[in-house]
Amino acid sequence: MDIVLSGIRPTGQLHLGNYFGALRNFVRMQYDAKCYFFIADYHAMTTHTDPAHLHDHVKTILSEYLAAGINPDIATIYVQSDVPQVAELSLLLSMHAYVGELERTASFKDKVRKNPNNVNAGLLTYPVLMAADILLHRATHVPVGKDQEQHLELTRVFARRFNNMYGVDFFPESQPYNFGADLVKIPGLDGTGKMGKSENNGIFLADSDEVIRKKVMRAVTDTGPTEPNSPLSDGVANIFTIMEAVSSPDTIAYFREKYATCEIRYGDLKKQLAEDIIKVVAPIRERIEAIRNDESYLRRVVRDGAEKARESTDRTVSEVRRIMGIRPF
Ligand code: TYM
Repeated sequence: MDIVLSGIRPTGQLHLGNYFGALRNFVRMQYDAKCYFFIADYHAMTTHTDPAHLHDHVKTILSEYLAAGINPDIATIYVQSDVPQVAELSLLLSMHAYVGELERTASFKDKVRKNPNNVNAGLLTYPVLMAADILLHRATHVPVGKDQEQHLELTRVFARRFNNMYGVDFFPESQPYNFGADLVKIPGLDGTGKMGKSENNGIFLADSDEVIRKKVMRAVTDTGPTEPNSPLSDGVANIFTIMEAVSSPDTIAYFREKYATCEIRYGDLKKQLAEDIIKVVAPIRERIEAIRNDESYLRRVVRDGAEKARESTDRTVSEVRRIMGIRPF
């Protein structure tokens, strides 16, 4: 049976990128595979989260996992820092991770560029910690967005290296996964790159209908096509990309045709997009608050989750210790 694992950093509310890149897949996969979905609080700490807010953010992600439809009786949901084997496997794997390859990781270089005053060792070993998350459960499939592709590639490098080094066939080659399609990158509404928590260009699962409409109506477009079949500007291309995730094929075809024939009205396009986003977000949002306020339920979910997670992580770490030569007296 497939073993699925994935995680999200608790750095704020989840946005549409997190949903279509990761969370929606979690919900769809849980009935067909053994699934582990966790909250990556150690990873969040690499950018120095405020201690006053970390727990609250963990609670937010946990409530959003559950509101989106992850069933804790079927999938295992846990908080990364509740499972000490994560730290141990990360340490053991770091013995075979080369500083050069970690320094070349795109996400590390990006963090160094954006935050030159906080180039900490945790940022450098971020992909090792992530490999530990995945390999602890010997996961075969990892539902993630396109931005995590390189981290998964490194996880496979570490797994192969470990297997070769010790002459074992222990770790699988974990593959990034998107239900029935290529990995996705949901763009922001500001005409640039991807939707992100810190880029201030996102639509959140907790946003009200009114906020969603306002954000979409403000999305960057252009002055409109002047010739049939002219290429899309970045802003308009982004709107169509988000539409691909939320709207029906008929709706998308209709607006593409209107664009190709220069009859498009961006106001209509945005109104339609906003309504289609609301159809996805509203039912989730309505469940978030109630779940978030049910402290005893949340406590039970993470306690049971940590216990279930430890069953497989205990086994993996004991075996890795044995393979690497750590023996009890
Ligand atoms: P994080 O917290 O940045 O993002 C969580 C998930 O959301 C996806 N995502 C997107 N997908 C499509 N379009 C976007 N605009 C977009 N923005 C975010 C990410 O690809 C990710 O799947 N390193 C991970 C957390 C992690 C993890 C793991 C993931 C730690 N250990 C083990 C999988 C397996 C991260 O920072 O994701």
